[in-house]
Amino acid sequence: APLEPPDLDDKSACVRATENNIETKCPGTDLLNCCPDYRGNPVTVKNYDFPKTTLRVRKPAQKVANDPVYMNKYKMAVHKMKGLPDDHPWNYYQQAKVHCAFCNEAYHQENGVPLQVHNSWIFLPWHRYYLHFYERILGKLIDDETFALPYWNFDYGDGMTMPTIFLDTTSPIYNERRDMDHYPPAVVDYKYAYTDGDSGLEGDDLVHENLDYLRRTFKEGLPLPELFMGDRVRAGEEADATKSLGQLEAIHNALHFWVGPKESPHIDMGSFATAARDSIFFCLHSNVDRLWEIYRRRRNYCNEFNDKDWLESTFVFYDENKEVVKVQVKDSLNINNFCYTYEASPTPWLDALP
Ligand code: C2O
Repeated sequence: APLEPPDLDDKSACVRATENNIETKCPGTDLLNCCPDYRGNPVTVKNYDFPKTTLRVRKPAQKVANDPVYMNKYKMAVHKMKGLPDDHPWNYYQQAKVHCAFCNEAYHQENGVPLQVHNSWIFLPWHRYYLHFYERILGKLIDDETFALPYWNFDYGDGMTMPTIFLDTTSPIYNERRDMDHYPPAVVDYKYAYTDGDSGLEGDDLVHENLDYLRRTFKEGLPLPELFMGDRVRAGEEADATKSLGQLEAIHNALHFWVGPKESPHIDMGSFATAARDSIFFCLHSNVDRLWEIYRRRRNYCNEFNDKDWLESTFVFYDENKEVVKVQVKDSLNINNFCYTYEASPTPWLDALP
């Protein structure tokens, strides 16, 4: 059966999130109190009405860096999000908690197995929705129907460094808990992990290695969605990084670790419980979503899985009208439903495929 959202009326259904490193290093921390505050008793959950508004165009981060008008809007929107009351569902840290809750075992399914939106075929659709609502809330806060998140163009030579827009220490999108050794000109490493070491390359060599890795990821993944996207996980099952993680998600994990600090517990970006507390999260995910879209286009939009356990998996989110809405994987497959698109960037790794 398809994954179902938690019972929002049962307040005891949400428990403190689990993250061993954080719990050990910061016992009792508030960082693991991730239960979103779904208002209403009972909570009214509506079917989501997809928007019919102006197209939002997501642009590369290295490009918007030179657009002060855009940057002012983006910073203003995040500033306002941070300024909302702590318990407001749109509050910056409440939004981050949504991610924590669905990643770090705050909710469980009927059989007691944690509800997990990572490590499987659920990963890409869930995060597409998460960004969609986040972007629209930001736009709403600055009254701009065209506001779009930037994307971290980490699949292109010029974009393989930490986007500079996040490095201004006076900006609301700055986060002081990152690995400063990875500030530009350090090149991202798609295989980075704290423990296994990295590829040992740097500069242009690493750029080429990354491009080649991405080319192979697409080449192997195009005929095999379970390899690229992640494996099947159905209701009652737990997605497990060692068994069902997809290749695109694995690259994305490396980027999380690469941005986050080396020191355990790797707060914020290096730990999924806290990652969405750093604005760079949404920029990274915007490109992950873009790469998924490129993948779908290359497959002529043929469904990755024609399995109703995937197509009918259901999630809940807060939308920009302060309503709790219900969405399904199948509606995430048509990007036109969402009224956003990506400004094109070169994809040499894809063009190199037969
Ligand atoms: Cu929900 Cu980048 O992870």
